[in-house]
Amino acid sequence: MKLLLHFMKPYTYIGIDLGTSGTKLLLVAADGSILAENTQSYPVFYPYPGWSEQNPEDWFAAAMRSLNELLKGQNKAAVKGISFGGQMHGLVALDKDDTVIRPAILWNDGRTEKQTAYLNEVIGKEKLSAYTGNIAFAGFTAPKILWIKENEPENFARIAKIMLPKDYLAYRLSGAFCTDFSDASGMLLLDVKNRRWSKEMCEVCGISEEQLPKLHESYEVVGTLKREIAEELGLPVEVKIIAGAGDNAAAAVGTGVAGEGGCNISLGTSGTLFVSSEKYREDKVNALHSFCHADGGWHLMGCILSAASCNAWWSDHILQTKDYAKEQEGLEEQLGKNDVYFLPYLMGERCPHNDVNARGAFIGMRPDTTRKQMTLAVLEGVTFALRDCMEAAKKNGVTVERTMLCGGGAKSPLWRKIVANVMNMPVDIPQTEQGPSYGAAMIAMVGCGEYQTVKEAAKAIVRVKETVLQNEKIATFYAQRYNHFTKLYPALRTVY
Ligand code: XUL
Repeated sequence: MKLLLHFMKPYTYIGIDLGTSGTKLLLVAADGSILAENTQSYPVFYPYPGWSEQNPEDWFAAAMRSLNELLKGQNKAAVKGISFGGQMHGLVALDKDDTVIRPAILWNDGRTEKQTAYLNEVIGKEKLSAYTGNIAFAGFTAPKILWIKENEPENFARIAKIMLPKDYLAYRLSGAFCTDFSDASGMLLLDVKNRRWSKEMCEVCGISEEQLPKLHESYEVVGTLKREIAEELGLPVEVKIIAGAGDNAAAAVGTGVAGEGGCNISLGTSGTLFVSSEKYREDKVNALHSFCHADGGWHLMGCILSAASCNAWWSDHILQTKDYAKEQEGLEEQLGKNDVYFLPYLMGERCPHNDVNARGAFIGMRPDTTRKQMTLAVLEGVTFALRDCMEAAKKNGVTVERTMLCGGGAKSPLWRKIVANVMNMPVDIPQTEQGPSYGAAMIAMVGCGEYQTVKEAAKAIVRVKETVLQNEKIATFYAQRYNHFTKLYPALRTVY
């Protein structure tokens, strides 16, 4: 019977991507085919320049709405597991009655300049690296805890539980107070090498381990649906909740990047370069993050704070159009010719500059510069910033010969070509480009025993739909342009 059920592939899995613009959900069969998808959005609040917040209740409400929509007309009895890929580094603080104390402070919030400087300069980068494998970046969770301690002492005193965005969803759905190693890595509270909370960092932040969630591998089952939630959704109460991963680790899984030496570039609100590794590796100059992966291993990651969001800003707000494809029409012939530069630092920059005060810029316009050239410059500028991360990875002895590409920006054929030429390597486009939600569903499959390991699931499920190759002439042009690009931020730093 078990064999028959397996042959019929009866079980389905839900992957929830708790993104910055909304929740993206997928219902996926064990063979990787997508049965349904749903997206629900929520606002980001920018109460002061450089701040960025969301209401955890909005995440939960959107996830419940999305689950209801996703499951309409589907066989609910077949759902076996739910897992998550979540926007990383956000600080969610609950009091002893489980009330959310204040809006969540997000990954791209830059208010912690002072606390970040305190951590890097007074505690010192060497000690931080020894405790966690990383230095402090403004968006990380530990500097946010210090910010609350200093600026909202009454809120700090009320904190009973500290969690990351996706962990809040798991908590509401199952009651399990837990997180996973990949997401916990971005808190600057985890000893990444040894996969345990850092006692030293808890001391530095004035918190205790009891306030932190229980640690799990991404693919571990942490609980089942609460009875009332199962009833509301019409799902079996046995549906398993699996810890899940930070969105970039989940996206890497979703593009098949597991084990040694795989690379994924994500063009989402943020942009990331993710290189997976079976052994622990630390960036000697800490330009990149050294984090745990969702497959039980580790990864090096460079994160730029504004990627597809630069194109959204340029198109939606400035050009006042949502028709990105039309805006990019005819630009393929312009590849290798543009002389306008764009610096993508709309929200400051994380990797490699670690500068909350950096800002965006167009450079090199002439009287005949066109709107099209500026559109192209935006896509090129974001990709050059990701090349900064690639160069930092190479300095650590990492060899990357080709990369996967996912995220909203990967839908653009033009942007795919720019990535192949700026990185000077083949770019593989997966069949399914919804990286984090697809990866989350795959992680749920591993948690429920459908596959033994994340690597096995990746091998069985992920398929490349198209490979975009670089062109020697264009890649040479971009190599020269990139060389000039690297001189622009240092020249502007004092202006910022
Ligand atoms: C990674 C990072 C972003 C967020 C976006 O370090 O901050 O990619 O996870 O959701």
